[in-house]
Amino acid sequence: MRVDAVTLFPGMIDAPLSDSIVGRARAEGYLELGFVNPRDFTEDRHRTVDDKPYGGGTGMVMMAEPVYRALKKVRKKNSFVILLTPKGRKFDQAAALELAGKKHLIFICGHYEGIDERVTPLADLELSIGDYVLTGGEPAAVAVIDAVTRLIPGVLKKSDATVNETFTGGLLEAPHYTRPGVWRGKKVPEALLSGNHKLIAEWRAAQAGELTGRARPDLAKEKAAKKPARAAKRTAQ
Ligand code: ADE
Repeated sequence: MRVDAVTLFPGMIDAPLSDSIVGRARAEGYLELGFVNPRDFTEDRHRTVDDKPYGGGTGMVMMAEPVYRALKKVRKKNSFVILLTPKGRKFDQAAALELAGKKHLIFICGHYEGIDERVTPLADLELSIGDYVLTGGEPAAVAVIDAVTRLIPGVLKKSDATVNETFTGGLLEAPHYTRPGVWRGKKVPEALLSGNHKLIAEWRAAQAGELTGRARPDLAKEKAAKKPARAAKRTAQ
């Protein structure tokens, strides 16, 4: 997959995506990550990219033209353009799966108070990573690119690593344990030591249901609403 970021601060995205799994995905060619800086598309002596907001107010607003030109430089026919903004659709695992199916993603990262509103129609999707305000779209781009990259086939070496995980089935994942079997007096649950795959799967399903109901009742409710009628009847008995 090819990903480009339109950003005034490429280092804010490049550095955190250089280590670990995503760093390896880049080195192995699963993810090609490029940057284009609106500042390189200015024509004045000061390479101005922002200005005061019309109508007054604090902070600066990124000007439309340098962003437009930067986007034009990298946009192709099959590009899917995402504008990161707290006003966008809330990012979740379903959105990550959708984006993982695209050939080319372009992230437009606002900074300061945001970008001139007239840039918005250039994007296919406005995306938010949560109900809080970041210093810019860059940390949001990092989160989205990370979540999408691990879904690219081949990036995670165990092919089923993304099948049973948290959110994919609409539930939180059952807890994990590793050696030692007893740590500071705390034992690993018996079922996990049994070697019985059916028992382990049942234990994990029960844990996932219990944990989701306790920690994220909103997800549990959503999952119950999506159950086919027959299954819902069975649980009601
Ligand atoms: N830019 C600033 N805050 C943001 C957020 N929560 N999500 C996406 N982009 C942002």
